[in-house]
Amino acid sequence: LIMPSGHPEVSPMTAPKKLYIKTYGCQMNVYDSERMAEAMGAEGYVTTDKAEEADMVLLNTCHIREKASEKLYSDLGRLRPLKIEKPDLKIGVAGCVAQAEGAEILRRMPLVDLVVGPQSYHRLPAMARAAEAGEKPVDTDFPAEDKFDHLPDRPSASTRPAAFLTVQEGCDKFCAFCVVPYTRGAEVSRPVARLLEEARGLAAQGVREITLLGQNVNAYHGEGPDGTWGLARLLRELAKIDGLARLRYTTSHPNDMDDDLIAAHGELPELMPYLHLPVQSGSDRILKAMNRKHTAEAYLRLIARIRAARPDILLSSDFIVGFPGETDRDFEDTLDLIRAVGFGAAYSFKYSARPGTPAAEKPEIDSAVADARLQTLQALITEQQRAVQTAM
Ligand code: 5AD
Ligand code: SF4
Repeated sequence: LIMPSGHPEVSPMTAPKKLYIKTYGCQMNVYDSERMAEAMGAEGYVTTDKAEEADMVLLNTCHIREKASEKLYSDLGRLRPLKIEKPDLKIGVAGCVAQAEGAEILRRMPLVDLVVGPQSYHRLPAMARAAEAGEKPVDTDFPAEDKFDHLPDRPSASTRPAAFLTVQEGCDKFCAFCVVPYTRGAEVSRPVARLLEEARGLAAQGVREITLLGQNVNAYHGEGPDGTWGLARLLRELAKIDGLARLRYTTSHPNDMDDDLIAAHGELPELMPYLHLPVQSGSDRILKAMNRKHTAEAYLRLIARIRAARPDILLSSDFIVGFPGETDRDFEDTLDLIRAVGFGAAYSFKYSARPGTPAAEKPEIDSAVADARLQTLQALITEQQRAVQTAM
């Protein structure tokens, strides 16, 4: 019996258990959800897209802004009737809220059966067994071993044209507003050999496009056969794999765009002419308060060098408006930067104070002012996006 997940070892006498996963937040969570589904597949679970028919519901959460974080609790509230109707249903919380709040989630929401942080997914099958036995396991360790070394190989039933591949996790940058260095931990790069093996496996399954993922993907510095490799070298090697037509990577930090990576954009036809390079603000005062360690001018110079290497490159960015202390003048500087670059797209957010971050100690600006700035910024981005798309 071949189950949809591609695991033939499930006995045909027992109906497979069903796993429903909801993914919030970034692409790294999307990738992690896939890997968790594969790990649970080896335990006899098949995935379902209907929570009502699931034996286990896994919520892979995001902690980046308060709104994202609170979604977990409203979704858990919505699951309550299902849990009453099906007491054997197991509910797991994974991802960055799991990491940040740990056992507190069990206290606030007793219907939750297990809590697993992003570095412990290889332990999920054992935790699920413990939950089935009536325990309430919580694992938010940053274990010494690499979870990827303990996850099953990726199944071969995929017919997808595009796939994600996490090459790097965590962040050492400590931007003053951001929880990522706390929830995902320090920067860790996966070894070159493992990544090439996974990429070759994906290509052999028919995958044509791979997006390399990392919280700070361009800070990649993985162990290679002859010392440490940067992202440019990894991209050049991946480009040689038969069948792989397109490469992308996200998300990058301006200070990690080194000469080699910029050159790769000019040299590698497989590397798509697109770069997501968050700048957050165009005001040097705010950039400093954000601990970004670059100025607006440095960002503009960098963009000029990238465009010199690859003139048709499409740029996108992330912006935060309403950071503590942001004045009208600071916001005007951000609009000026946007006008100077001409973005093809952008993700923009109203500042959200996150527990444990340095910026959360500072007084917040008027919420209505921040709302208005977000609207103004998004209108300008939409205008630029239209212009870029019309030109295509
Ligand atoms: N408030 C608002 N936006 C945030 N981001 C990260 N932390 C916060 C926060 N506390 C945004 C940044 C980052 C993107 C992933 O999320 O713009 O680049
Ligand atoms: Fe967060 Fe800054 Fe690290 Fe990006 S670079 S994950 S915004 S701390």
